[in-house]
Amino acid sequence: MTVSFAHEDSLKALQSKASLSEKLRFLHDTLRERYDFIDRIAITVYDAQLDLLKTFAWSSEDRSPLTNYQYKLSESESLMEILQRGQPRVVNDLAVFAGAGGHHSQVINRSGYSSSYTTPMYKEDDFIGFIFFNSTRKHVFTEPVLADLDMVAHMLSLMVSCEKMVLETLQATVRSAMHFTHHRDPETAEHIDRMARYSRLIARDLAEEYQLDDQFVEHIFLFSPLHDLGKIGIPDEILLKPGRLDEREFALMKTHAQRGKDLIDELLRNYGLDGVGYVDMLRNIALHHHENVDGSGYPGGLRAEDIPIEARIVSVADVFDALTSERPYKKAWDNDRAFQALRDMAGHKLDRRCVEILIIHRDEVEEIQRRFQENRFG
Ligand code: C2E
Ligand code: SIN
Ligand code: SIN
Ligand code: SIN
Ligand code: FE
Ligand code: FE
Repeated sequence: MTVSFAHEDSLKALQSKASLSEKLRFLHDTLRERYDFIDRIAITVYDAQLDLLKTFAWSSEDRSPLTNYQYKLSESESLMEILQRGQPRVVNDLAVFAGAGGHHSQVINRSGYSSSYTTPMYKEDDFIGFIFFNSTRKHVFTEPVLADLDMVAHMLSLMVSCEKMVLETLQATVRSAMHFTHHRDPETAEHIDRMARYSRLIARDLAEEYQLDDQFVEHIFLFSPLHDLGKIGIPDEILLKPGRLDEREFALMKTHAQRGKDLIDELLRNYGLDGVGYVDMLRNIALHHHENVDGSGYPGGLRAEDIPIEARIVSVADVFDALTSERPYKKAWDNDRAFQALRDMAGHKLDRRCVEILIIHRDEVEEIQRRFQENRFG
């Protein structure tokens, strides 16, 4: 027979809508059929602005000790060396790092890996992160193995840059939608910066409990500032009203949640992004950020665990920032008063765990406030 359909594409799962982490796990399983000693694959992405390497996706037998881990690239000599050479690096016996000071290398040693293959990822000529292959065995990364791993690494780096591009397009789109209306929006650029960081702080601490992966944490950072997109449709005399809203005005104001979700649906359709799995988070944040855990919120009147976790997180970040900021209808409160108000709302209006976490991290919250103060002259 000269024509046959007997062979099945062994990598078919890669064309599905699965998240990058799921695809990575699948690739890892496939790779392990041939190289059973590859115990872990991890992808870290580089944030050039902050000089931070952050875990992005990983696959290993046990839960990685390095989930949601981040560190300064410039503080890791061995990783800097890889970059300076622009070459991947094989370490056949990680014991060489045993004495070496880096916190990061100690973490890797403690986690029991004995050898590694580390390869830098580039998008065009820009460095975007590293891929780590680890084994608990020594001297397994031989030339023929590396030739195969290079192919996997290139495929992964294409997947990561594609993911980055989609995210950047999406963000740019929504941001410009916000910019067109910015002149009338009482919410400032600093509000956006703070919101994103409060939300990420809460998500990072909840990750263990709710099994949120690194991508979830990164996505909530990107998407949380867009919660009030629907305020675009609210007339100035309500949005900028210096006093309390009457019942009719507040009823109209409440439509911003549904309007935001509708706008996002439209943007995603126009940019062909509506099939991307994780954008559900963006929809949920816009639609559900005013739900209360006791069911008294809007628009759905959802309760407790029925409210998506991303919406419960953003709700706490939003209320805290609204309280500590000046609004046309109120003065800024100090942190003591705002934290007390959050405590009072915990368990009926706001999610109790999310409130606790924000309060526990008061130092970090105040650091964020210092860094992103309102610019009165801007
Ligand atoms: P926002 O100003 O961003 O406030 C977001 C949320 O923070 C509010 O959602 C509310 O849950 C909380 N919050 C803000 N200020 C206070 C406060 O002084 N006390 C308490 N306990 N909570 C506060 P909410 O109530 O659903 O309001 C949604 C949006 O409607 C607000 O967004 C704001 O744009 C507008 N809004 C609400 N109340 C008034 C008002 O009295 N006057 C005017 N002009 N706008 C209002
Ligand atoms: C991870 O295991 O979560 C990725 C880690 C890293 O190598 O930094
Ligand atoms: C170091 O921290 O300088 C060495 C270990 C590493 O990060 O790879
Ligand atoms: C890592 O696996 O996260 C880093 C270890 C290494 O530098 O190879
Ligand atoms: Fe809102
Ligand atoms: Fe807001």
